[in-house]
Amino acid sequence: MCRVVAISNQKGGVGKTTTSIGIGTSLAKMGKKVLLVDLDPQGNCTKAFGIEKFNKSISNVLSQSSSIKRTIKKTIMPGCDIIPSDLSLAFLDSSKLNNPHPESILKNALSEIEYKYDYILIDCPPSLGSLNVNALVAANKVLIPVQCEFFALEGVTQILATISNIKEKYNPKIEILGFLISMYDPRNKLSIEISSEIRSQFKEAVFDTIIPRNISIPESQAKGIPTILFRPNSSGAVAYYQATREFIERDKIIYQK
Ligand SMILES: Nc1ncnc2c1ncn2[C@@H]1O[C@H](COP(=O)(O)OP(=O)(O)O)[C@@H](O)[C@H]1O
Ligand SMILES: [Mg+2]
Repeated sequence: MCRVVAISNQKGGVGKTTTSIGIGTSLAKMGKKVLLVDLDPQGNCTKAFGIEKFNKSISNVLSQSSSIKRTIKKTIMPGCDIIPSDLSLAFLDSSKLNNPHPESILKNALSEIEYKYDYILIDCPPSLGSLNVNALVAANKVLIPVQCEFFALEGVTQILATISNIKEKYNPKIEILGFLISMYDPRNKLSIEISSEIRSQFKEAVFDTIIPRNISIPESQAKGIPTILFRPNSSGAVAYYQATREFIERDKIIYQK
């Protein structure tokens, strides 16, 4: 059965896109069939795969102007497909969509192609608007990347409130898969302090694996090649592979706070 996981946190620059790619490509390397959904108008996930030209995108899915099948593209990573995104997504006005349930458009579209995949990962935009709502309505679980910086916990409080709202209104089964500490720098005292604060607050819901800050990650994104192919032995690629093992295990468990 296909698992749909939203990678979400309304703060920008916390590692959502990098985590979507890192876990998506590691799952593919483990032999799983993966679809990445780029749900951010910035299209960073799309660009990180070196994909520049495409006729159809996630905008066509949400505006229901194309069948979802026609928007799927293969990536350089075998077993890992993507629905690309670009700036046109920013101009999509969900209130103008002629649909009585605009929050369920992505969920309904994904249900047509779920049979093809083991995992669908949704790379969410840095906002709590209708795109993020569509992702949380479609998802079985949410993975929340957290960067070790001063306002990290404040951002987490907001995403948790949004998730419980969605749970109440639209998606009673949604659960938190876990919190993943990203861009960790052991030389930075604040990094150490914040990561221990995150652990003391969210306890076993925090991944044991920590993603270190690693230059191979932005370098590979700039090249348009996933880190697991570009620098497979880098600390970043290895950490995401390890986090993916945990991801699979954690997906089977429901954490109670
Ligand atoms: N572990 C890491 N080490 C070094 N740079 C990273 C790491 N994770 C992400 N980055 C960089 O930080 C920036 C923000 O990450 P990104 O995944 O795009 O965050 P988000 O999707 O939440 O906005 C990007 O430029 C990315 O290349
Ligand atoms: Mg992003």
